[in-house]
Parts: sequence; C-alpha cells; structure tokens
Amino acid sequence: MKFDTPAKNNPIDQMKVVGQPISRIDGPLKTTGTAPYAYDRYDVVSNQAYGYILGSAIAKGRITSINLAAAKAYPGVISIVTYQNAGKLGKGKLNTAHLLGGPEIQHYHQAIAIVVAETFEQARAAAHLIQVKYERAKGYFDLQAEKHKGVAKGDSGGPGESAVGDFETAYTAAALKLDATYSTAHESHAMMEPHATIAAWDGGHLTLWTSNQMIDWAADSIAKTLGINKEKVRVISPYIGGGFGAKLFLRTDALMAALAARAAQRPVKVSLQRALIPNNTTHRSATIQRIRIGAQADGLITAIGHESWSGNLPEGRSEAGSQQTRSLYAGANRMTANRVSILDLPEANAMRAPNEASGLAALEIAMDEMAEKLGMDPIEFRIKNDTQIVPDATKPSADKKATKADEKDQPDANPPFSLRQLVKCFQVGAKKFEWNKRKAKPGELRDGRWLIGLGMATAYRDNVVTKSAARVRLDKRGNLTVETDMTDIGTGSYTIIAQTAAEMMGIPMSKINVRLGDSTFPVSAGSGGQWGGNSSTSGVYAACVKLREAIAQKANFPIDDAVFANEKISHQSQSFTLAELAGHQGIAAEDMIEFAGLDKKYKQSTFGAHFVEVAVDAYTGETRIRRMLAVCAAGRILNPKTARSQVIGAMTMGVGAALMESLEVDKRYGYFVNHDLAGYEIPVHADIPHQEVIFIEETDPISSPMKAKGVGELGICGVAAAISNAIYNATGVRVRDYPVTLDKLI
Ligand code: MOS
Repeated sequence: MKFDTPAKNNPIDQMKVVGQPISRIDGPLKTTGTAPYAYDRYDVVSNQAYGYILGSAIAKGRITSINLAAAKAYPGVISIVTYQNAGKLGKGKLNTAHLLGGPEIQHYHQAIAIVVAETFEQARAAAHLIQVKYERAKGYFDLQAEKHKGVAKGDSGGPGESAVGDFETAYTAAALKLDATYSTAHESHAMMEPHATIAAWDGGHLTLWTSNQMIDWAADSIAKTLGINKEKVRVISPYIGGGFGAKLFLRTDALMAALAARAAQRPVKVSLQRALIPNNTTHRSATIQRIRIGAQADGLITAIGHESWSGNLPEGRSEAGSQQTRSLYAGANRMTANRVSILDLPEANAMRAPNEASGLAALEIAMDEMAEKLGMDPIEFRIKNDTQIVPDATKPSADKKATKADEKDQPDANPPFSLRQLVKCFQVGAKKFEWNKRKAKPGELRDGRWLIGLGMATAYRDNVVTKSAARVRLDKRGNLTVETDMTDIGTGSYTIIAQTAAEMMGIPMSKINVRLGDSTFPVSAGSGGQWGGNSSTSGVYAACVKLREAIAQKANFPIDDAVFANEKISHQSQSFTLAELAGHQGIAAEDMIEFAGLDKKYKQSTFGAHFVEVAVDAYTGETRIRRMLAVCAAGRILNPKTARSQVIGAMTMGVGAALMESLEVDKRYGYFVNHDLAGYEIPVHADIPHQEVIFIEETDPISSPMKAKGVGELGICGVAAAISNAIYNATGVRVRDYPVTLDKLI
C-alpha cells in the first residue's frame, strides 16, 4: 500500500482498542524472567559451547604476534578464532570499524580473539592466557584538541552545513547578542541486557538467536561480513532487554559467535562481558557546540548560528548537534554546521535521539540565556520565535558529496510542518507546572539549605517514516496471527501491533497472536529513530486492509460498506462470523506500507516541553530533582500507557545526561576508563522524582494511516537543558558543560 494522500477516516479512527491504555502483552513474561533472552535459549539447540571475547589492549596500531599455545592447552578449550584463521571477512554497510580486529587495530577493546570452551569459566580463563604483542601507533583521542580538524558532515541525509540569508552581518548588527560554547559528554547506552548471541550452523545455513533492534539490517550485515548469501541466514530476536541504539547494528557478539561456531563445529553462545561493552561497541560522541543568537529588543531572533563538533573513527557519522536548529525557531539569517574530527576512540554511533538529544542540550540553554538578556520569560521568548514553516531547508546539494539519491529524498524548500503544536505544549505545561511561581531572578527561592529553581526547555525530534511489511492469518477459530520482523526492545511493539490488528478486524485482543523478531517474517521498519511504532503498525494496517478485502469477497459484501466488529463481518442485515469464513484453510494476507511523497512535502516532527524543579544544596552543590513534567505533541498516541513509559524512561535518561553520565577518556591510551556500571553512573530510582506526562490530543493525517508519530526519543530531547536551566534558576551558576556535577557549582 502506497501512502500518498492524507489519511481520511479509517477503522483505526474508531479508537475502540487503539488509543487505550492496555498493559503490555509481554509485561508478565519480562517481569517474571520468563521472556527468553538470547543468552538463555538453552531450548533452541543442544550442545552449546561457550565463547569468550578478548579485546585489544591498545587503541591504535598493529598486532605483531599472538601466542595461543597456553590457551589451547587449557582444559575444556575447543577452538580459538583470531584474524589469522577467521578467513576473509567483509564488513556490514552499517559498521564503521571491523568487528574482528587484527593485525590492524582500530580502537581499544576491538575484538581480537574468541575462545570456545565447554564452560564459560574455562573460556574466560583460557582467553587470559593468550599472549599478544602489539606495536602502538599514535592515536587521537581528545575532541577539544582535534576540533580544528573537523570536516562538515551531516547525518541521516542532512547536509553538513547550511546557510540562509547573511548570518554574520545580521549577527553583528543585532541589538542583543549571545555567543557561548557548550559541551556534552561521551555517553554509553547502558542497557540492561548485554549484547548476546547463540550461533548455530546447519550445513551452510546460519541461525543467530540474538538481541538486535533491526532484524533485516543484522541479516544483511552478517551475510556481507561472512561473504554468504543472505538467504542462508536466519536472525531471531523476539525479546530484547533494551537497546537505545546500541543494538541497531550487527555487533561483535553475533559475528564472533558465528565464526566460533563454524570453527568449533557446534553451537556457540556469546555474551559481551559488561566491562567490554563501552569500548567494544558504540557510544554517543561527545560534542562541543558554539551557538550565536542575535535578536531585536522585542525578542525576535534575527540571526541564529549553531556549530557542532564531534568525533569518530574515519568514515563514521557525526553527532549532528545543530540539526534541529534548522527547523526549530524562526530567524531570517542562519547558519549551521556539523563537523566531525577523526578520533581513534571506539565507534561513535546512534544513541537515543542522536543529534537532537545532544543539540538541544546546548541550544535550549542558549535560549534560556538569551531570554534573560532580553528580560523576557523563557517561554515567551520561544513563542515569539515559533514558526509554522521550516526556516532553513538547505538541500544536500550544498554538500559536495551529496548524491542524487540524497537530493531526491529531500523535502521541498521551506516546507510547512504537517502539524506543529509547540506553543500549546508550552501553555499546557506552564499552567500545569505553575510556571508563574518561578522567580525570574536566580537564587531567590529557598527551602532550608536547598536552593530551589524551575527550568524548562523545548523538546523536538524529527518523525521519520519508513516502509514496513506484515502478514496476517485468520484461522478457523477466529484467531488472528500477525507476523512481522519488527522488534520490541521494551517499547510495547507487541501490544500496539495487537491493538492495531484488533481494531482493524473487530477481533478481541485475547484472540490476536503477535509474532516478532524473526527474519523469516516480512521485513518491518524495525526499532530505531522513534520510527518503529508508527511505521510498523502502519504495515500491520496495510496487511489488515488486504485481509478485510479478502474476507469481504468471501462474504460477497461490498468492502466499503462492510463492518468488522464482534468477530463478524456484517453488511446491512447479513453477517458471517470471521471463523466460519476462514474455514479450515484459514485466510491470509500480506502487505507493506510505503511512504510515497507526503514525508517530502511536509516536515514531520514531534514537539514537546519539559519542565523541571530542582533543589540544589547551598553548601555541597548536590542537585536533587523534585518534579518533572513533559508535555508531548506527537500525533495520535496509540497506547497512552506504553507511550508514557517511553517518555518517563527517556526523561530518566535525560537526567543521566544532565547530572552524571560521562565516559571519561584516558587521553594517553585512548579508552573509556569507567567502562562498567560501577564507574559509569546512571540514575537509580532514588534519583528520580514524581514524573508526569501529558499528551496533547492530536492526530496527524500526514504521518501515516495510524495518524501517529514517534514518541520514544522525543522524551529525552531537551531534558538536560531543562535541568541545567533549573539549576541556574536555583543558584545563579550557569554551567555549560555536561554533566552538571557538584564540583561545577561551587
Ligand atoms: Mo535509536 S538511537 O535509532 O535506537
């Protein structure tokens, strides 16, 4: 089904099931520990051996020798794979560094060997007996020092640089100006379930039970890396203990398990040990961001400039901190740049709301600072500069390396937003949070030893739509099975997919069986970039439309007037049960939603406002968050319970980014020092106060037949700045470098 005209009335609009706060279908399985995670799949294949991965001890250079003798002789050891016996390996198109290193080493803890043994303990002990000699090469590890070498590079098809009007002249002439530099830290996804895989070969066929957000990308990448046909690979990932972008790509666990299983000639299971994850996998790059804003005395922005620097391995993407600045606020003269410098740290890649989470962390402090200079309320200043069209629609042709395909994919110049209710988010939030109680002057509110402050920030995140397929099958008992390779990373995919099918077919939730995360199912959008919920349910919608047609035809009813309800199809006074029409054979249908054009004519984004109250200890500088409110405008909310869980989870992650999360770089040897959950601090329950989420009622007919949008990443966007702004309001200390730890406040 091609989606190219705004969605009109359709069965989803009934909202009998869709839009209801239904608890997650997989909830009991996950909370009782019975959801089978990849590493726990003892049931799927017998004779599993254990693999243990050894990471490189240097960040850059070469291996000069590997001595395996002692490891091979260790009890229980079955085989060892290194680059010397792995055979020729390619690279998945989504991997920046090689997943198996050697002799060249590209980053610290790059996998260089896997030991397979009868037990995990034997594999681990033997791995530590491998003797590796290295020749170290000079590496570059310090973003601040390498910043001047940054080259412009966009992300997700956007250009590296953009310009509208004459920024420099307008900025110089502006009545009021801000020029400030901000920084965000390197961050780790720190999901609960580590990367893990069981690999088994059957002849030339490979099966991976793994933990991955994007089944089709994983199948494609493992096939490319091993140089085998994609049809010979099966990837299975029905339950996932968190991803946040870390599991968007094929990672070492899957490749090394596959190589190890081939060498050992039996199934091999591998879990990345926690202390390997930060340096072996991907992280969110730190950024340095310079923001300049020029405004008239009445608060109208006349010039806005945002330059962002990040680091990555050669060929890696940029953390495009200025991306949202092209669309968020009005202003006639503008410039943005996303620059990336080569750093020989582990690969930087997507982490929840890549680009915007980093960009808004800086931009939304700048907006707070500028409002103060203008003597305006921060909300009033933002409303003054609201826009219903995209003020900067620079096409990638501005980028020399842009391809024709990039250009074709770009929106029209200055497209309107499909729906933008940002101002409403501010208004609803301000009222609910009692924003009027905020003191404009910092340091004025006190509660004993605690300094109290209120802060807010805009939330903004693009809404991406992407093709997604599903198949549905009705059986003789009237049960409906949905199959799609969509994943549920804890987000509620099972539940909203079941709700969609139930609504479309008039079948109760209890009779819908959703099967996900298997490469033998139709290829879905997968879970990433907050596109999964809206796109994958749209794919299920498309398949159900076909199934409805097939059923109507069997009943000999005109599809346009047929009603699907109470497990029946009815037309005027006639009706049949779905079960009887399905018969012994059952009825099946499969289709794919394809987004054809509307996403280019309109800018689709999601909007919100974050409000935070903090208390800062006047003597120690300790920050405690007292209240948090998020107001979100993200299209139709398919399930307010799962959507709320997504948003509060994202808000919690924003607290981490604001107050504690930082992978610290050893600038001599080029690795993240605090590479485990003891040293890498994330919020715990005691750090999180009462959180409230309000969804603005809206439907966006441009976004999809579901009229929904993404929300799982919107929730983190702007949180860090809202906290930082609240801390400023409490203390009068403006911290521009994250995380805002107490040493920066006293
Ligand atoms: Mo998301 S960072 O695309 O999983």
